[in-house]
Amino acid sequence: MLEKSLFALRLLAWYQTHKRDLPWRETHDPYKIWLSEVILQQTRVAQGLPYYQRFIENYPSVQDLARADEEEVLRLWQGLGYYSRAKNLHACARMVADDLGGKFPSTYKELLHLRGVGKYTAGAIASIAFKEAVPAVDGNVYRVLARVFGVEEDIASTRGTKAFYTLAQSLVPEADADLYSQAIMDFGATHCTASNPKCKSCIFKDDCVAFRTDRQHVLPVKTKKTKIKQRYLHYIVLQHDDKLYMRRRHDRGIWAGLYDFYWVEHRQPRTIDRLEDSLVALIQRHQLSMVSQPILYKHLLTHRRLYVYFFHFKATIPFIQDSASLLSQAGVRAFTVAQTQALPKPILIDNFLQERFYS
Ligand code: ADE
Repeated sequence: MLEKSLFALRLLAWYQTHKRDLPWRETHDPYKIWLSEVILQQTRVAQGLPYYQRFIENYPSVQDLARADEEEVLRLWQGLGYYSRAKNLHACARMVADDLGGKFPSTYKELLHLRGVGKYTAGAIASIAFKEAVPAVDGNVYRVLARVFGVEEDIASTRGTKAFYTLAQSLVPEADADLYSQAIMDFGATHCTASNPKCKSCIFKDDCVAFRTDRQHVLPVKTKKTKIKQRYLHYIVLQHDDKLYMRRRHDRGIWAGLYDFYWVEHRQPRTIDRLEDSLVALIQRHQLSMVSQPILYKHLLTHRRLYVYFFHFKATIPFIQDSASLLSQAGVRAFTVAQTQALPKPILIDNFLQERFYS
């Protein structure tokens, strides 16, 4: 087995020539490093880069982000999914700006107290911004360690995460913890990749347990499969002139705080006349015309498969009196198409609007 002290040395040497030039690597500013890490927990580097740049342009400092309106932050986050992360990002910026005088804590232990900052993010900020010798264990790191050291513990189990954390901690060099954290992330992301690792040209080729036993595709072990639930959503898109009826979601779900249309959920897909809903009755009363046959959008999330039908109706007369009050009870408000562009929306809704209204 590879001697532990050699692991960091080889990785650091590899990093010198293979390092990716990324904007958050030109700084030790904990704000920028924190921001990049929160974005990169959600997506890959290539997709995350423009988000990072937009956030930095709009909010050059943590105080700027703290002062921003939550809706604006959600709008900038649009497309990354997992919107509670964006809310935590905003709440964390407020904590730092309002309670900590605009200064990020400088140790792993203190960083853990921040909103939305768990072991991974605290480890990444402490090591990269402050050179503290702590690990930041993400999916890339699990993969590299499992393969090189032949760790067979299940990364989805508590025992497994503890075992990996202990091993990861024992490998961090006292000096250069900042470079080391980024080196192991890049190595996992570009070299020791999940499906096509470049084993033949690998710096660990002679020692890697997975390579020597031909188990690159078995390690890391992850048993717990997320159960995927199917959901059928039926969106009612009401239009009058150039106005669309949308509402802000106040639930606690993954799209809380975002704008979408009124919807009805059923266990199976249904036609409009079988939705059995008060707003649908209004459509019938008003004799609204369906603009086109419902369109189906499929949307895959980590633990949900959404089947989403858009029923698009046009009204020729304005909604007044009873109809207007029914709409307001349903929580929908009229927005011009132009106004809807600025609202934070689930990407699925944005795609629908792009196709039907924005293009
Ligand atoms: N993935 C997560 N954090 C990263 C970082 N700082 N650099 C590259 N990839 C990453």
